[in-house]
Amino acid sequence: MATASRTAEPAPATPTVRRFPPGFLWGTATAAYQIEGAAREDGRTPSIWDTYSHTPGRTRNGDTGDIACDHYHRWREDVAIMSELGVGAYRFSVSWPRVQPTGSGPASRKGLDFYSRLVDELLDKGIRPVVTLYHWDLPQELEDAGGWPERATAERFAEYAGIVAGALGDRVATWTTLNEPWCSAFLGYGSGVHAPGRTDQADALRAAHHLNLAHGLGVQALRAALPAEAQTSVTLNLHHVRSLTDGEADRDAARRIDGTANRIFTGPMLRGEYPEDVRRDTAHLTDWSFVRDGDLAHIHQPLDFLGVNYYSPTLVSAATGSASHNADGHGASEHSPWPGGDDVAFHRTPGPTTAMGWTVDPEGMYELLVRVGEDFPELPVVITENGAAFDDYVDPEGRVVDPDRISYLHGHLTAVHRAIEAGVDVRGYFLWSLLDNFEWGYGYSKRFGAVYVDYATGRRIPKESSRWYARVARDGALPP
Ligand code: NOJ
Repeated sequence: MATASRTAEPAPATPTVRRFPPGFLWGTATAAYQIEGAAREDGRTPSIWDTYSHTPGRTRNGDTGDIACDHYHRWREDVAIMSELGVGAYRFSVSWPRVQPTGSGPASRKGLDFYSRLVDELLDKGIRPVVTLYHWDLPQELEDAGGWPERATAERFAEYAGIVAGALGDRVATWTTLNEPWCSAFLGYGSGVHAPGRTDQADALRAAHHLNLAHGLGVQALRAALPAEAQTSVTLNLHHVRSLTDGEADRDAARRIDGTANRIFTGPMLRGEYPEDVRRDTAHLTDWSFVRDGDLAHIHQPLDFLGVNYYSPTLVSAATGSASHNADGHGASEHSPWPGGDDVAFHRTPGPTTAMGWTVDPEGMYELLVRVGEDFPELPVVITENGAAFDDYVDPEGRVVDPDRISYLHGHLTAVHRAIEAGVDVRGYFLWSLLDNFEWGYGYSKRFGAVYVDYATGRRIPKESSRWYARVARDGALPP
């Protein structure tokens, strides 16, 4: 989110162990299409990501999620790995086309049974399941009917939410409607670097609204099906937008990007309104007539926490002609994912980078959390994703030694702890990811896992960082 620069607190003179509050939730995270494989098994139909990844030229090396980590068959082993690590929570997503193959109509018993078995096994091992309903794998049939730019998709989502809640709600207490709707709308329908690969900014804005509506209708469907104590949330990839200079034009560029990255979702979901400036900045693209009377009341639902995914900050200025949206870290395309941001230039934040080319900047996470705490003081926050890709390899002794990841995690967990000390109500942290997996347009070329996956054999090798993280999680404390 855009922020005025904030003075960092002085570092303590002697480095001390940072203790997290009792009950702080520690977890790892994955998503269905990125790990499951078994793309055509037990009645599952194609999602937009199957179609997209099978389209030549869309993903690196033509990689697809057909097999991925084969988690659909190896789930028991994966839960055993989690259990051995001793990290208390696991955030995973349900594949919509696996549990409701046509995206409407009857549920697939076999699909639901898979998640039911997974949940039972997690509970048996004392691991808390945290379910995301939508992590980008829209049933292709719904895309063929128009996809997220169409209102009906939001209505179908609410039905699907009710089905999954009905099947798992007796055992799953923590629910998230959507993961990173910004990516679904603006990378999926704007720049086209994500499925379904469409490139129309007006459609992307319509998609954003219908994702907001899907969230609101989805929360209502969850509440209707779940016990009163169940928790509902949404996960947003809030961008921490910094302006290159303090000049007015650059600050205005940051405001605009903050608008379509963040406030276009937090506005309706958490305040019940679209920010006026976002409507104004995009008025040349759409008249916003897709927002119907009553929509905002549906979208604005009470939530138990806000899920925040953070990896790296965003640095912008007014356009100079030299930089472009291709420096925004979201994948190269001749089409921009930024409606209303045509005259904004993106710059690389100085500092070390991960294998994604994303700058390692824990201070950005601290600043972002403080801003969220100020903007929504009543709403607890859970970091639903944070982590890094590095070029990991198995050494001759069969180990995967990944000090850069440990240092990334150490820096970011320090930032989370400092935010808690500053009064932000952060309740949990999920490392992305449990396993190396299918990194969307980058295919298998980027490894985010705490556990290395040898894709040729399916073999899992816990990286050093997994043991480091497991210790932090078990102790609830971060060493100096
Ligand atoms: C966000 C997404 O939710 C996840 O699917 C992705 O793999 C990570 N970020 C890393 O890019």
